[in-house]
Amino acid sequence: MRYHRIALLPGDGIGQDVIAEGVQTLNLLASLAGDFRLETQSFDWSCEYYLQHGRMMPPEALNTLREFDAIYFGAVGFPTVPDHVSLHGMLLPIRQEFDLYVNLRPIRLLPGLEGPLRGRTTADVNFVCVRENTEGEYARSGGRIQVGTPQEVATQTAIFTRQGTERIIRYAFELARREGRHKVTSATKSNALQYSMVFWDEVYSAVAAEYPDITADKWHVDALAARFVTHPQTLDVVVSSNLFGDILTDLGGALQGSLGLPPSGNIHPVAETRRGPSLFEPVHGSAPDIAGKGIANPIGGIWSGQIMLEYLGEREAATQLMRAIEAVTAAREVLTPDLGGRATTVEVGKAIRTALRKLYK
Ligand code: NAD
Ligand code: IPM
Ligand code: MN
Repeated sequence: MRYHRIALLPGDGIGQDVIAEGVQTLNLLASLAGDFRLETQSFDWSCEYYLQHGRMMPPEALNTLREFDAIYFGAVGFPTVPDHVSLHGMLLPIRQEFDLYVNLRPIRLLPGLEGPLRGRTTADVNFVCVRENTEGEYARSGGRIQVGTPQEVATQTAIFTRQGTERIIRYAFELARREGRHKVTSATKSNALQYSMVFWDEVYSAVAAEYPDITADKWHVDALAARFVTHPQTLDVVVSSNLFGDILTDLGGALQGSLGLPPSGNIHPVAETRRGPSLFEPVHGSAPDIAGKGIANPIGGIWSGQIMLEYLGEREAATQLMRAIEAVTAAREVLTPDLGGRATTVEVGKAIRTALRKLYK
């Protein structure tokens, strides 16, 4: 029996609903597979916790999390707590502290779902976004001077280190090789950003030269955003800085038909330099507009659990879970309102678990 210790951080809003479905599904899968188990521990760190304790997580939280094999995360964010407080108090420090420098976000049209693009098939929309996850625009560098005066200036400095840039670009090329993908596309903006993105392009060219078997493509991020819509079939692996990747992957979710669908893995892929567990979470946020209604699409959350299983080495179970998700979308019978259906979060979770049971019969 293989045991995996998982910290559950459902957080706020629909994060709680989708992680509840994800955990039930993963536990069922473990019992069906019979050869691994998840030892889960749930933490109530969230905006609600903040309103009671004045902080998003207790002071020893990062050390507590360090002991786990993975973190399964919902979303944080609540209308009465400023977003920079909630995110800088929980998700972003976890990414930073554990150096989770890869944010891996597959964008794939699932069977049965049409997406908003006319005539596109599952073969046309199938690529992986590799988003740098620890530096760039999220480096926490900057400040405000002369606050509140007409002379006020706010700066937010994007930081691109050679090590940080090289490792994310290299990861994208290695992923392409590993998954039998043929092309990497870089999101740049070196026409306007003459330091950061000119540097990014230089590093990209140098790393690309080491992978003659992979086509190295690049587009300015504005044009690339348009190509996501007009030419999704030309994309295979997309590598980008932190903020560009953030924006592009919500667009990717829209291409799939809903922001409730795409999953993500926040990963430190090198075992020797790992500082803590990797974190798996849907791309979407806490969705206050539908929180508490029981209608959030749980697929992004459950699919994130699927990526977590792959990361934990449970490849067979991960493959079966993906099949179960696809069986539910292909049947089109149990879908949440964001996909045009009338099902609840729980009903979609149950449908995926029913599909899993069939696969293991
Ligand atoms: P959001 O992703 O929460 O919601 C955007 C839109 O997509 C909303 O209309 C929402 O109803 C819809 N949506 C999102 N997930 C869905 C799902 N699973 N099923 C159906 N519809 C879904 O983005 P936002 O509105 O910009 O942010 C809301 C809050 O979440 C903010 O506080 C933000 O900071 C936070 N946030 C947190 C994370 C995270 O913790 N990882 C990520 C993004 C946003
Ligand atoms: C995401 C989210 C976060 C990000 C926010 C909530 C800080 O949008 O994971 O995509 O920008 O990285
Ligand atoms: Mn985002």
